[in-house]
Amino acid sequence: MEQRNAGKHPEPPRREDASHMEYMTEVRNFAIRSWFPRIAGDVSSIAAAAGLPPAITRDEFAQLAPQVDQIPAVQGWKRLMRSQQQLAWQKLQDSYAADREYWEGQLTEAEERNRGRLHYDPDFVAPESACQDIHLQPGGYCGDNLAGYVFYHGTRVFYQGDNDFDEIHDSCADVMKLPADGQVRRVLDLGCSIGQCTTALKERHPDAEVRGLDVALPMLRYAHMRATDMNVDVHFHQGLAEDLEFSDGTFDTVFAYILFHEVPKHTFEPIVREAFRVLRPGGTFTVIDAPNADRLPPPNRMWAAYDAQYNCEPFSPAFGAADFTGLLAKAGFEDVEKGSSDSFLYNTFAVKPL
Ligand SMILES: C[S@@+](CC[C@H](N)C(=O)[O-])C[C@H]1O[C@@H](n2cnc3c(N)ncnc32)[C@H](O)[C@@H]1O
Repeated sequence: MEQRNAGKHPEPPRREDASHMEYMTEVRNFAIRSWFPRIAGDVSSIAAAAGLPPAITRDEFAQLAPQVDQIPAVQGWKRLMRSQQQLAWQKLQDSYAADREYWEGQLTEAEERNRGRLHYDPDFVAPESACQDIHLQPGGYCGDNLAGYVFYHGTRVFYQGDNDFDEIHDSCADVMKLPADGQVRRVLDLGCSIGQCTTALKERHPDAEVRGLDVALPMLRYAHMRATDMNVDVHFHQGLAEDLEFSDGTFDTVFAYILFHEVPKHTFEPIVREAFRVLRPGGTFTVIDAPNADRLPPPNRMWAAYDAQYNCEPFSPAFGAADFTGLLAKAGFEDVEKGSSDSFLYNTFAVKPL
């Protein structure tokens, strides 16, 4: 079998899978781009009729939720969002599993071809929190050796076809805050998954040593194979963001893209503390993540509630409610800035004092 999972734009195993993923992408696009704006109008009208302002709190939304859930178009939207997600994962998972030995062999072959770039301890046990079916992916990030392949193609659907060449990861890497002295010799990408930001960061800082860290070995093995095929020289480490193996002051900059809303609340503070510890004085921390705001428009509140309840995002409400900038300041960071980005995500930047 030819090697098709190379580089930035691999194909899924069979033509049948590729067309199914295209179909799923169209279904998701329809749900998000055509259907959601319509129900957003209905949800906003319910909030306005209740005398609420254009941006509302979590508690205010909870009061409206029973009425919102009575709208047939809202019920249909939730079902469609959930079903397309389940169908996309299942198709990919079945397809990779049908030729398991071959796909596992590809990961092993990359490890042999490019040694010393994937760091893990075979006895490491991932925490339960990372083994849930996050986003409904069966087995989550850790449950299947081929989860990285499945995640890659599944997230192409998730990104609505707009990330086939890592465009979104590239734009995230572009906003990373650099240290004031401009020195970027060592970069850490926390919760790197399949390494799309890790490689984007290396491409922007070719002289820097760039390391990605994640708890899930299947993600890291795929990340390593992908970076190897792309000929991008980065390191991947299995470990906990809340208990980093690196020495104090190792990195000029630490980056975390959509990690925090997927970890339990009790780990927010230890992860922030570890980021602070491994940064050198003047080093920067960039966090791009789900909205972390007291008030959001009612339709955004509805979507966040859907994700938590029906898209297996069990930890996201705690992140949405956390005083994240307060946590950064408490850990010792200064110049903490938070703002909404061009997308639905928020960018937060902080600096370790000199
Ligand atoms: C949404 S994904 C991150 C996406 C990724 N940053 C990207 O560029 O596409 C969240 C990742 O966090 C990882 N993760 C969960 N808990 C973790 C922990 N305690 N320490 C490190 N990584 C963790 C998961 O395995 C998963 O790969």
